[in-house]
Amino acid sequence: MATPAPYRASEERYANLPSFYNRCGRSGILLPKISLGFWHNFGDDAPFERSRAITRHAFDNGITHFDFANNYGVPFGSAERTFGRLMDEDFRPYRDELFISTKAGYDMWPGVYGEWGSRKYLMASLDQSLSRMHLDYVDLFYSHRFDPNTPVEETLQALVDIVRQGKALYVGISNWPLEPLRRAVPYLREHDVPLLIYQGKLNLLNREPIETGILDFCREQGIGFIAYSPLAQGLLTDRYLDGIPSDSRMAKEHFLRSERRTPELLDYLRQLQDEAQTSGRTIAQQALRWVLEQAGVTSVLVGASSVQQLTDNLHAVI
Ligand SMILES: NC(=O)c1ccc[n+]([C@@H]2O[C@H](COP(=O)([O-])OP(=O)(O)OC[C@H]3O[C@@H](n4cnc5c(N)ncnc54)[C@H](OP(=O)(O)O)[C@@H]3O)[C@@H](O)[C@H]2O)c1
Repeated sequence: MATPAPYRASEERYANLPSFYNRCGRSGILLPKISLGFWHNFGDDAPFERSRAITRHAFDNGITHFDFANNYGVPFGSAERTFGRLMDEDFRPYRDELFISTKAGYDMWPGVYGEWGSRKYLMASLDQSLSRMHLDYVDLFYSHRFDPNTPVEETLQALVDIVRQGKALYVGISNWPLEPLRRAVPYLREHDVPLLIYQGKLNLLNREPIETGILDFCREQGIGFIAYSPLAQGLLTDRYLDGIPSDSRMAKEHFLRSERRTPELLDYLRQLQDEAQTSGRTIAQQALRWVLEQAGVTSVLVGASSVQQLTDNLHAVI
């Protein structure tokens, strides 16, 4: 792909206001119903111009929320680095229109300070993320997973102090079980850094946040909920109906294994496809709409390996 012309965001990017945005819990923040995740398809293993085209297309269509973690991309950190280049080349004039999140929690660098929930790790990781993304601050910083061996107050106080330092505007929690989450909410509130949002896996094939009561708890507490892998990494689309495409996530046999493509899943997908077609939708649109219909869900965080996939996903709601 040739280098495209200098970027000017579409004048139409907010044409779908306000139906495209949901309030994030009881906060001042509105998030798009469809947000873009940079876990796959934006690292050094992906063509840069394709990553650029997807990111531009997202923003041109009102997707103001981009989600990262320190370890996104191959190698780790490369998705944030890709975005740093995009900030420099395309998005700097639009910084105040963007809501950018990153996280720390999983294995990031060698040794005993490169993962989990210590103050040492969280602080250092965010500094690294800011430097890779060429940003002074992120809008949202998450604890990416609960650390059973670090006092919960240490992790939470690090989040509070990160906000006090001006390196993040809001804090979030991802993948924590309900019990520590119940302890986190009052702690953060008492320290004047109320929890903005919880990020959890929710899709038609995985309803854990509903079953554990996390989604209800967030709603009751005025905390937003953003659903990750709403398409079950691509399973809930037409991608695998007729086989395993060589350029698909499943073909890599890492995060999405081919044993997930069972006869039962294919039967379910065909049924979903029939339902979708009666309302003129695709499987992906049907799956995204189901997540967005769950009470308390603020946004779905989709991945996309092409502009076409993102367009399909956007049409779930616009
Ligand atoms: N907090 C956490 O622990 C956590 C964990 C996982 C993800 N996340 C966040 O959630 C984001 C999304 O996760 P995800 O990538 O697993 O989401 P997903 O939307 O469930 O899956 C994305 C994949 O599905 C396929 N796809 C998407 N739209 C499609 C369409 N319309 N038609 C056909 N195939 C389509 C593509 O697969 P191909 O690449 O094969 O084309 C795409 O890469 C991540 O980027 C990250 O920001 C957070």
